[in-house]
Amino acid sequence: MRRMTDTNFRSLFDLPRDLTYLNCAYMGPMLKAAAAAGQAAYDRRQRPWEMVVQDQFFDQPEALRREAAKLFSATADDIALIPAASYGLAMAAQNLELSAGQEILTLAEQFPSNVYVWREKAAQAGAKVKTVTRSANQSWTEAILEAIGPQTAIAALPEVHWADGGLVDLIAVGAALRSQGGRLVLDLTQSLGTSHFALDQIRPDFAISAGYKWLLGPYTLSYAYIAPEHQTGRPLEQGWITREGAEDFAQLVNYSDSYARGARRFDMGERSNFQLGPAALKSLEWLNSLGMEALSNTLLQRTEALEAAVQPLGVHCDTPDRAGHYLCLALPDNAPSDMAARLAENGVSISQRGARLRVTPHVYTDDVDIERFAKAVKAALS
Ligand SMILES: Cc1ncc(COP(=O)(O)O)c(C=O)c1O
Repeated sequence: MRRMTDTNFRSLFDLPRDLTYLNCAYMGPMLKAAAAAGQAAYDRRQRPWEMVVQDQFFDQPEALRREAAKLFSATADDIALIPAASYGLAMAAQNLELSAGQEILTLAEQFPSNVYVWREKAAQAGAKVKTVTRSANQSWTEAILEAIGPQTAIAALPEVHWADGGLVDLIAVGAALRSQGGRLVLDLTQSLGTSHFALDQIRPDFAISAGYKWLLGPYTLSYAYIAPEHQTGRPLEQGWITREGAEDFAQLVNYSDSYARGARRFDMGERSNFQLGPAALKSLEWLNSLGMEALSNTLLQRTEALEAAVQPLGVHCDTPDRAGHYLCLALPDNAPSDMAARLAENGVSISQRGARLRVTPHVYTDDVDIERFAKAVKAALS
């Protein structure tokens, strides 16, 4: 396995030395190389007459699709390019069956993009959304397994809960759902690109991820995995570029009833995003070059070091089965309600979600950051 501790990752990012950025779950910083690729793309966009149609409209999106596919452990044919997690979830909702009296499972305090769409679908079908809650010492996996039954038509879940960092054992959940004939829809926005995704064992129907957090990409370019059995489904849009033969611009009004191969029919309109695509491609290539095993080990080690640094202050993680890259810290009773603002005053960027501090590092987080974090927490609590 490649050692990551020897590399100066900070130099690849535009991170000021007096700032400790522990907020990847909010928004990942783009690599300098990705920003440069984006700037070059804007530069080219001033001269459309120099554009090579095959390259810009077709080959570049294919390159992006291939890199995204690696993160899902899928093939390029299984990936659609979409603008946002909510778009991919709407696509999943449109393509899954639901009858009156059946249930859709979601988690308590799940991210809203993966809740509203299911409320709407349930209301239309006369079905209901069942919100899974967990008790203090229970893992999300245990709570979900208890909730799955013959009435479960769809489980719309994250791999990692965005507010407490709890990890869902998707292999176990996927198997339990299949045994009841249920469908699995995943929002991987808080986990894809941080560890290996065991697609063959999890076997989701749809899995999506926004691209601007752990994928370190530009805003408004996201990815969807669509299982082969759904690749003949109904896209949200009926654009021109997702049809077979779209490469021949002179023949576009010889309308085609056939779609491009695989999941491409689900691509968003204007998916050949000339400005954002090159930047996103650089980010995904870089993540894939790190290797998911080395990356997940490194992120686990960073979160463990961050947790250890504040444990003596009475701040600890109380989430069973927390994800390796994602630390949500319960605060002592006397903690001020504006912890995030107090930490920001001392050069530490984190998020506060409910009663917890959400501390999400990346490979650029080093010992200086960990020390500054511990000092800032101590100052905020005193
Ligand atoms: C779990 C999760 N899903 C999705 C999103 C973003 O959703 P969308 O792409 O629909 O804006 C976020 C943003 O915080 C998130 O935490």
